[in-house]
Amino acid sequence: MNALNSFSFAIIALAGGVLAVNGLVTVGVIVIFVEYSRQFTRPLNDLANQFNLVLSAIAGAERVFSVLEEKKEQADEQDAKVIDWEVQGNVQFQNVSFSYDTTPTIQDVTYHVNAGQTVALVGKTGAGKTTMMNLLTRFYELDEGEILLDGISISTLTRDSLRENMAVVLQDPFLFHETVLENVRYSVPEATREEVIEACKLANAHPFIRELSQGYDTLLEDGKGISQGQKQLLSIARAILRNPKLLLLDEATSSIDSVTEMHLQRALDTLMQGRTSFVIAHRLNTVKNADQLFIFDDGTIVEHGSHEELIDQRGVYYELHTAQQFD
Ligand SMILES: Nc1ncnc2c1ncn2[C@@H]1O[C@H](COP(=O)(O)OP(=O)(O)OP(=O)(O)O)[C@@H](O)[C@H]1O
Ligand SMILES: [Mg+2]
Repeated sequence: MNALNSFSFAIIALAGGVLAVNGLVTVGVIVIFVEYSRQFTRPLNDLANQFNLVLSAIAGAERVFSVLEEKKEQADEQDAKVIDWEVQGNVQFQNVSFSYDTTPTIQDVTYHVNAGQTVALVGKTGAGKTTMMNLLTRFYELDEGEILLDGISISTLTRDSLRENMAVVLQDPFLFHETVLENVRYSVPEATREEVIEACKLANAHPFIRELSQGYDTLLEDGKGISQGQKQLLSIARAILRNPKLLLLDEATSSIDSVTEMHLQRALDTLMQGRTSFVIAHRLNTVKNADQLFIFDDGTIVEHGSHEELIDQRGVYYELHTAQQFD
């Protein structure tokens, strides 16, 4: 529209100039003509702008409706129990099967994790690792089998009380349009500023936060202005602040450079002590020290053991590991 305005102005000026030079019209007439033509195009301009507004309103409305139409999480069973014991963190998957639609995603998975152990879920993209975490957090319900927490089936517990005992760090953490401080405090609303800063220091997020224009009070606009790796550090700080019994890390260190990753790995090692931790990582050197590694392929566990045992077996893990040595 603006281009059209400038174009018509140029034509009028040019034609008017030629006419004025030839003495056919006066300069005053041209000026008035330009002004009239502006008055003519202004409402058209306004209309075009309104149209843009309408389009963005429609796009906004679509998003609002998609949120409203989102299926509500199933309500807890009427007799669901609130966790009233000191959670130890023993987790058992017993013949667990699950499918998102008709094709089975997880098939007959059975394993046992002792309280305080770190287990790594390893496998190709699409093998079903994240799905295992979704089942543990009860974002989805099992089709068959059971998951037990300290010997109690998690399907008999309220979702809230189950999730209160967990912290999840995802591949792509979500940040709110809020300050850094509030974004970390989100996991524990009553935490003090000092506690938040302490958590950020442990997560090694403190150095980059200090560099931000207003430190902990910097507003994060839709997560802009900080990198993917920094988002992950904040998300880890959230988990540290929460101090949960079960820790679920899904590719938590995927977007962090190797130096930061080393610092972070130390922080995570401290964090994982005394907690049952489930760790998913594509880079195998980050999960080498896990107590047990479960190798997934097409929704089933194809191998299981410690790093050394799996290397000795010379199977799928050995192949993955050797391939990464040459990366
Ligand atoms: N919400 C969903 N709805 C339908 N299918 C899904 C959904 N989430 C995952 N899947 C499918 O389930 C399978 C397992 O996915 P999952 O996310 O568990 O893989 P993953 O092992 O975590 O992979 P990656 O290493 O890439 O994160 C994939 O085939 C995927 O397409
Ligand atoms: Mg995944």
